[in-house]
Amino acid sequence: PAGAEVLVASNRGPVSYALEEGGTLTAKRGGGGLVSGLSAIGSDAEAVWVCAALGDGDREAVRRTGGGLDPGDTGGQRVRMLDIPAEVYTAAYNGIANSALWFVHHMLYQTPLEPVFDAEFRAQWASYESYNRAFAQALAEEAAEGAAVLVQDYHLALVPGMLRTLRPDVRIAHFSHTPWAPPEYFRMLPDDIARQLLEGMLGADQLGFLTRRWAEAFAACCAAVVGGTGDTRIGVYGLGADAGFLRERSQQEDVAERLSTLREQIGTGPDGAVRKTVVRVDRTELSKNIVRGLLAYRQLLAEHPSWRERVVHVAFAYPSRQDLAVYREYTAEVGRVAEAINSEYGTADWRPVVLHVKDDFARSLAAYRLADVALVNPIRDGMNLVAKEIPVVSDQGCALVLSREAGAHEELGQDVLTVNPYDVSGTARALHEALTMDAGERSERTARLAAAATALPPAQWFLKQLRALKEVTPRADAR
Ligand code: G6P
Repeated sequence: PAGAEVLVASNRGPVSYALEEGGTLTAKRGGGGLVSGLSAIGSDAEAVWVCAALGDGDREAVRRTGGGLDPGDTGGQRVRMLDIPAEVYTAAYNGIANSALWFVHHMLYQTPLEPVFDAEFRAQWASYESYNRAFAQALAEEAAEGAAVLVQDYHLALVPGMLRTLRPDVRIAHFSHTPWAPPEYFRMLPDDIARQLLEGMLGADQLGFLTRRWAEAFAACCAAVVGGTGDTRIGVYGLGADAGFLRERSQQEDVAERLSTLREQIGTGPDGAVRKTVVRVDRTELSKNIVRGLLAYRQLLAEHPSWRERVVHVAFAYPSRQDLAVYREYTAEVGRVAEAINSEYGTADWRPVVLHVKDDFARSLAAYRLADVALVNPIRDGMNLVAKEIPVVSDQGCALVLSREAGAHEELGQDVLTVNPYDVSGTARALHEALTMDAGERSERTARLAAAATALPPAQWFLKQLRALKEVTPRADAR
């Protein structure tokens, strides 16, 4: 079939639509490494991006266009958006992907009561299968003979196997943007489902992970559950920050405006010196460990009264996955703890915690620029790009407090203050150390961090995988 030579599939696409009153659709360009990585292939590659309609605006856009989105909305990118029935989509996305699979890989379950893999879970699993099948079918329709198909993430674990059956001629890669659970935790999933997930992924010619640790955990799961990884190649591709884009973007006018607003909010201490800042920027995500970060900051203020009125914790926590009750509760808890610290320690002209929840990329960049200390303390994280972005845009150097459980730690560990994310006292100690690090050491470390963080920028991250995939002999030929 005539079709695309290169295809990408992901749940969230490069663009999403909001349905305004009166029926107007406004396109919002998605961010993230994948978006900038893919745009680097250019138009000659004839690439098609297959993604899901996430909400009502997207569904309406699909109805109006038949699914092939207006290139004017996508920056020229060919995008095919799939209108999967809302109930199927919700069960697959919220029930399986963001609950069972996300929780397993981030090891988030409180095991005395959760998880419960019951009849409801089985019904959601059926939806996950049909959501994956919709992607596999769309890819099978869009792919040229021998095309390279790059499937993204835990939402689409079954796609490689399904696509392999439909189109034995194409080359298939799958990339995991999350951690991978060790076998003793992964095997919490019902045996048949654990097997189906691994076999689905092993339908790919090539599997990619963000770190060696996650790749090894995957291989260990395969050894335990399906007896090995077969003919599939496994590679580590550590997605880096996009230095060119970030440096350019962070010098723009809107960022400068937010920088001065933030500086006003931060203010000066009793000694007249500009207050120090501890910055964090996250989705409000259970794995990001925001509450323990706040508790560590509170302990810093309790144990080092000298920091009171001289430091501000700038915490950006952008609501995420609010359809899930535990995320709503967690979001509320973040607000409560921040408020408690402010009422316990705040004074007439000092707010110890400045918490912002409205997503604003320009303001995030402004905070990156002014941070004295960055706090990145996830319980478990595939990579964590914030840890890589901050050193790149930092104005005067920034001390990075980084969880040893973030994938980024594998590459940045030399120049950070490493913390055990559960150890609130240890994190408080690291914050103190970071705040007292001398300026010279701080900027030397920041320069080395920036270099390590940009070793594999998004475009190269993508092209490296594509190149490796094109070297694969399609299995249909091999027979
Ligand atoms: C993680 C996942 C991505 C996902 C992102 C945002 O980074 O690996 O696949 O897109 O979180 O989550 P959301 O559910 O909002 O797409």
